[in-house]
Amino acid sequence: MSEEKKLTPKLLIPEVQLQKRVAELAREIATDYQGREVVAVCVLKGSFIFFSDLIRQMDLPITCEFLGVSSYGNKMVSSGEVKVTLDINEPLEGKHVLIVEDIVDTGLTLFYIMSALKARKPASLKSCALLLKPECLKTEMDVDYIGFKIGSEFVVGYGVDFAGKFRELPYIGYLEQGH
Ligand code: PRP
Repeated sequence: MSEEKKLTPKLLIPEVQLQKRVAELAREIATDYQGREVVAVCVLKGSFIFFSDLIRQMDLPITCEFLGVSSYGNKMVSSGEVKVTLDINEPLEGKHVLIVEDIVDTGLTLFYIMSALKARKPASLKSCALLLKPECLKTEMDVDYIGFKIGSEFVVGYGVDFAGKFRELPYIGYLEQGH
């Protein structure tokens, strides 16, 4: 098979299904946080599209913060080392913080972020991930809001990349392994 063909993502979750689930998650979160103000944390870069769609449908007072972390670089396998590329400068003490992730794979990134933000003494700290790969988790991880549980395929699209590419796809696709 040519390299180009292998790098064409196959459809995993169509756009319509994604949008429906994001709307459901937004309603669920808004119900749970009623009467409270939320600090929504967009974990860059992968979450930027999911985050934008989610917060626009959450009927709540929110402020947005952006946290840059990276552990994959150009690889398909996590390096296991989480690098902070952009930190949150606003104090989180006493705030209701919701971390928004595109994908939880090994769970190492979310574990790192949860520990780092917990140390800033928020009033509450929860997490929301569009995608979760239960078979790939390397750490005990409770994600409060999950869009879809998927298998171990390498996914791209809707913000998620492979070597910086495919983030712009409106659907979730997967790449065949072995390149
Ligand atoms: C991806 C994704 C999550 C993390 C999940 O980020 O956006 O943050 O990996 O993987 P894990 O559960 O195995 O830790 P990546 O390091 O690729 O950076 P990016 O978001 O900038 O693409």
